[in-house]
Amino acid sequence: MFNDKSVLITGGTGSFGHKYTETLLSRYKPKRLIIYSRDELKQFEMQQRFNAPCMRFFIGDVRDKERLTRAMQDVDFVIHAAAMKQVPAAEYNPTECIKTNIDGAENVINSAIDNGIEKVIALSTDKAANPINLYGATKLASDKLFVAANNMVGANKPRFSVVRYGNVVGSRGSVVPYFRSLIENGTDHIPVTHQDMTRFWITLQQGVDFVLKNFERMLGGEIFVPKIPSIRITDLAKAMAPDIPIKIVGIRPGEKLHEMMCPGDMAFHTFEFKDHFVIAPAIKFFQRSNDFTSNALNEKGKSVDEIFEYVSNSNPHFLSVDEISAFNEEARK
Ligand SMILES: NC(=O)c1ccc[n+]([C@@H]2O[C@H](COP(=O)([O-])OP(=O)(O)OC[C@H]3O[C@@H](n4cnc5c(N)ncnc54)[C@H](OP(=O)(O)O)[C@@H]3O)[C@@H](O)[C@H]2O)c1
Repeated sequence: MFNDKSVLITGGTGSFGHKYTETLLSRYKPKRLIIYSRDELKQFEMQQRFNAPCMRFFIGDVRDKERLTRAMQDVDFVIHAAAMKQVPAAEYNPTECIKTNIDGAENVINSAIDNGIEKVIALSTDKAANPINLYGATKLASDKLFVAANNMVGANKPRFSVVRYGNVVGSRGSVVPYFRSLIENGTDHIPVTHQDMTRFWITLQQGVDFVLKNFERMLGGEIFVPKIPSIRITDLAKAMAPDIPIKIVGIRPGEKLHEMMCPGDMAFHTFEFKDHFVIAPAIKFFQRSNDFTSNALNEKGKSVDEIFEYVSNSNPHFLSVDEISAFNEEARK
């Protein structure tokens, strides 16, 4: 699907962007792969790492529509990964988070429409489902913008969809590198904010593969949610440091005890497929099919129960301590 095509990824120098680039270059022969982000050092290091002739590096901010529109010229597919994503930073700098995550999303949409891009996938997070912090709320607003953008183009291009998943094992600023650095520095305890805390758990490679697959599946308007396991944070601590005691330090501002990917209130619009869920748009599209029970690959989904919700503590698939160790090891590859 990506052979001889041009792909642009906003936030391409981040954790997702690196794994996506590695995967795309190993499986396909794209015409161009454009990395769009702000920091020249991260771009320089990425250029050194991949040294691929098809790659182009654009310095630019998603807040700058003119620059985005220039960067998207003759592009076929866009992945929108750029975001401000640290929960405390978003709480303390709300307008900055809104400018990047909401205004930036609107700019990506308008630039994609102006350039007649074929398909756009925006990355979302479990924190966008029934959000309690600003990061999640801005990502929910972004999700809504991408879904509704399909209505702005009617039967024409582009098609816009969203991929929503949970904690990526080992991504920048996340719990695994935090625990690892504590352990390496000889900590006498592992701080866990709440005894019962659970999270969805996914590797970067699984996230990338899910996004690549959804470019084939998408009709436009879906929020794609993968079926993935959950973990208990206390089990994560035991897996990473079996001999170091856990200390409960209290829940942080903006932190949930459990994360949610499909809210119960959206059950009427949620369809279950073999390895994923689709949350279909609540609005009716004009000049477009509103049937999301099958997709462009002709996979069939079925309606979920009307009380269904997909939450990390009631997930039927939990990893044991040993499974977490193996999963985290796999994630480091
Ligand atoms: N990591 C997770 O656990 C997780 C889970 C679920 C969903 N997600 C979502 O997945 C996406 C990618 O996450 P990630 O882990 O790869 O993040 P990351 O490692 O922090 O990378 C973020 C990227 O966005 C760029 N960026 C930030 N602000 C920008 C702006 N205003 N304009 C242009 N580029 C900007 C950054 O580069 P510069 O700073 O150089 O611009 C960097 O390339 C995000 O949308 C996030 O919400 C992540």
